[in-house]
Amino acid sequence: MRKKLVAGNWKMNLNYGEAKQLLAKLIEIKSQFNPATEIVICPPAIYLSAFSEHLRNHPEIKLGAQNCYFQDTGAFTGEISPLQLKSLGVKYCIIGHSERREHFNESYEVLSKKVKALLKHEIIPVFCCGEQLEVRNSNVHKEFIMKQIEDSLFQLKPNEISEIVIAYEPIWAIGTGKTATAEQAQEVQGLIRARITKQFGEQVGNAMTIIYGGSCKGDNAKEIFAQADVDGGLVGGASLNAEEFLQISNSFQ
Ligand code: PGA
Repeated sequence: MRKKLVAGNWKMNLNYGEAKQLLAKLIEIKSQFNPATEIVICPPAIYLSAFSEHLRNHPEIKLGAQNCYFQDTGAFTGEISPLQLKSLGVKYCIIGHSERREHFNESYEVLSKKVKALLKHEIIPVFCCGEQLEVRNSNVHKEFIMKQIEDSLFQLKPNEISEIVIAYEPIWAIGTGKTATAEQAQEVQGLIRARITKQFGEQVGNAMTIIYGGSCKGDNAKEIFAQADVDGGLVGGASLNAEEFLQISNSFQ
């Protein structure tokens, strides 16, 4: 069976005191999370070190980063390497979030390097793709998303791409409260799986975890997660509330 995964992307939110409170709340309710679902939180990088200590005895909650650089070490002021993330026990790293593509000009090529660098250190990339509203309105979103995936991921070997999680995040749904319908999510995610299957074979395609992101909330997750090719969610705003994050995480039928 495919891995189910729900990841909270805290983005650049919460001061340290608030972040510690949210973590404490998640630890307090950890036994209520369905153990069959992988639960990941991605706090701001500055908190990862302390969080990895706090989570030492709570393996139910995995730690993820929101970004990294593609070199192991060196003169890259301000950057964080996969090797450094690994030394803290970080298991996942979001790559190619639309906010990074847009505000930090991350190209398909850079994203491809980041994915490879993470795989080298056995950190699971959560590779984001998704279209702007104009792209969807022009009805070229399917081609657009396939190109994002092909350009950044198709140089990988089957055993490498098998390690990745793909997150489909329509940009018009991120932080807008305007979620994609379950049918829209399924349509794109089904296509992603079909494309991966065509390129890398049935075994890889069937096993790939593909999650949905974009205004995923406690009251819509059930319907979205019920779709055949939706294996979980990448949750922004709603992950800042422990109870709602729990509700989303437990939304599989
Ligand atoms: P949102 O963000 O849930 O606040 O829409 C999702 C994301 O950007 O990963």
